[in-house]
Amino acid sequence: MGQLLKDKVAIVTGASRGIGRAIAEIFAREGARVVICGRKQETLDQVAAELGPAVRAHSCHVGRAEEIRALVDSTIKQSGAIDILVNNAGTNVAQGPCVYIDEAQFDKMVEVNLKSAFRLMNAVAPGMCERGSGSIINIASISGLRPQHHGMLYSMTKAALIMMTQSYALELGPKGVRVNAIAPGLIQTKLSEYYWKDQARCTAQLERQPIRRLGQPNEIAEAALLLAGEGASYMTGQTLVIDGGHSLSSL
Ligand SMILES: NC(=O)c1ccc[n+]([C@@H]2O[C@H](COP(=O)([O-])OP(=O)(O)OC[C@H]3O[C@@H](n4cnc5c(N)ncnc54)[C@H](OP(=O)(O)O)[C@@H]3O)[C@@H](O)[C@H]2O)c1
Repeated sequence: MGQLLKDKVAIVTGASRGIGRAIAEIFAREGARVVICGRKQETLDQVAAELGPAVRAHSCHVGRAEEIRALVDSTIKQSGAIDILVNNAGTNVAQGPCVYIDEAQFDKMVEVNLKSAFRLMNAVAPGMCERGSGSIINIASISGLRPQHHGMLYSMTKAALIMMTQSYALELGPKGVRVNAIAPGLIQTKLSEYYWKDQARCTAQLERQPIRRLGQPNEIAEAALLLAGEGASYMTGQTLVIDGGHSLSSL
């Protein structure tokens, strides 16, 4: 067990599996007390039991303001002031041509992928500013840097999350709070299985990438650890691209 986040209190959203779970595991390994959220308490309890006593489960649908408030209040009450917030929960409900997207899908994607981060940052940042320290990490995507074919809503919410990261970083920096984003490429999780479960589609993806394999959740979690801790003390407003080189374009 390391000490990089000794006695820090962290919230990690969307930590019932995938990237969020890996972040929670690495934070706990480094001495943090971690509150994990997702929609199902039962699943989260199981994950918390697997990750150990430093991890506490609190179910929260990040698209619901009152549940976010309850998550933040209970974290402060039970674990103490929040030092680290990772906005990781995300979804992708509407792949397809832009002109067929309906308004309910648009609203849901904004609510879950974007407004959740806005609400959580606004609930957590004032306390961080009062104490003069804190680290916020938003999990965006390389799809927020370039449009994803038939993925307008996903790309749009991730692009906005990157701009939100920069805007908060600008305002919160003078108060000692750093805000950064991570833009993963193809990471092997449930969310991305469309791209890797089918062998031919997966090969086509990986052929365009210098590191010719799928990324794993822990490879994003290690970057989140860097951003969360003192190792990144002079870094704010940045978007770390971790994609096996996928977004390099060569002539
Ligand atoms: N995998 C990739 O290739 C990739 C690439 C770029 C960016 N990302 C981003 O990385 C983040 C994590 O994705 P992942 O790949 O780890 O996906 P995942 O394995 O599907 O995990 C998504 C997590 O988010 C939670 N979640 C979904 N909707 C939620 C809601 N409304 N309220 C609370 N929690 C919710 C899920 O928990 P429950 O279902 O239990 O609620 C789950 O824990 C996302 O923001 C995603 O956009 C992923």
